[in-house]
Amino acid sequence: MSKSLERGNFGTKLGVILATAGGAVGLGNVWRFPYVTGQNGGAAFILIYFLCVLIMGVPVMLCEFLIGRHAQTNTARAYSKLANGTPWKWVGYMGVLTAALIIGYYGVVSGWTLQYVLASVTGQLHGTPDDFRAYFSEFSTNPIKPIIWMTLLVGMTHYVIVHGIEDGIEKASKIMMPLLFLLLLVLVGCSLMLPGAMDGVEFLLKPDFSKVTGKTFLEALGQSFFSLSIAMGCLCTYASYFKRETNLVGTAFQISIIDTFVAILAGLMIFPAPMSVGVQPDSGPSLIFITLPNVFEQAFGSMPVVQYVVSLAFYILLSIAALTSNISLHEVSTSFLSEELRIGRRKAATFVSLMCVIVGAFCSLSLGGWEWAKLFGMPFFDLFDWFTANICLPLGGFFTCLFIGWFVEHKIIHDEITNWGTSNYHFFHLFVFVVKYICPLFILFIFLHQLGWV
Ligand code: PHE
Repeated sequence: MSKSLERGNFGTKLGVILATAGGAVGLGNVWRFPYVTGQNGGAAFILIYFLCVLIMGVPVMLCEFLIGRHAQTNTARAYSKLANGTPWKWVGYMGVLTAALIIGYYGVVSGWTLQYVLASVTGQLHGTPDDFRAYFSEFSTNPIKPIIWMTLLVGMTHYVIVHGIEDGIEKASKIMMPLLFLLLLVLVGCSLMLPGAMDGVEFLLKPDFSKVTGKTFLEALGQSFFSLSIAMGCLCTYASYFKRETNLVGTAFQISIIDTFVAILAGLMIFPAPMSVGVQPDSGPSLIFITLPNVFEQAFGSMPVVQYVVSLAFYILLSIAALTSNISLHEVSTSFLSEELRIGRRKAATFVSLMCVIVGAFCSLSLGGWEWAKLFGMPFFDLFDWFTANICLPLGGFFTCLFIGWFVEHKIIHDEITNWGTSNYHFFHLFVFVVKYICPLFILFIFLHQLGWV
């Protein structure tokens, strides 16, 4: 292999954890988990979420890890290698495609966070609730501005990616993730000091089992898959850079714990503030771009310096969370192109970055500028989101489980999971059982439910 085609590895254990956790911790932790938790019985939901992560999230993550680490190549080829010429290889291609589609809309929203960093720096985020709504709607439907921000974000991602695995992704994660944790803790502190903050904490953490229904389990499972970045090719691709000594089981647990912990802290950061000023918290882009700036204004308006710092810290945190997730998505396509077309990493990354800008621009314009860019009545932006979350993720997870549980030789699985017999893993048979029967059944059920068929 020529120098430029040589595969890198993560250099340290900490690098593995921070980079992979960086991919998993994203906007989903901030804009969805707290809201879904509040709506579904607080701590009762968190308990169910833990179970989903433990019973489904960790095993499926482990499947992706072992496929990637075994094959030491990009996601499509990794599945192909184990598939031995059978159609199972298409599951890998689907992972690559999912990542490429997600980056289209995720890159656009990530770009929005950068605009809000600038708006915080220049002190533009002031006004009435209507002002915030108008500001966001004007900005997000502007045909040019969001595309510029998205291009900047892709440029930052590109910069990290071309520096390779250890000098690029790992180094960037080692700087950005500690900063993200620090900002999160500071913001949780600020939020908890507000008068009436305990109402928000109670709303989030007080278990209310009367709100738990069948739907709660589905919400928890869907959210855990999205949050852990399952079935997007990211975990498999990153695992292909793990060393032979990396303990896959331990890593899967650590990533899941970090991701869940961040989600709960995000809840503690987000909930007390709206409650203390009597605003109803919501979810999605409107939570972070409309509701929260308004809440910051009302909660901290009498202390302009605090409002300035809180707002800036919050949007920097969001940008970091978004950037590290974009990096993990970009890497899926970059490693794929570089290895399949046998071109250097830099060339492949350039190609992927251009593609991200084109697809992102298309998604962004579908919200404003090109109103005709719709399919089934949905702007492309929403369509990409809907299609990946409701179709690609469940199907990818489902087939990955079946592939590992029913097709791949158990010796390979055992070798990978126990690091060739050097570490003990007492639950091997339980893992295989869960992956063979439990996970596919549950995932299938959710999939059909999301489509409204059950
Ligand atoms: N896990 C990310 C989140 O919680 C989602 C994500 C990761 C999406 C990587 C795309 C790529 O936001």
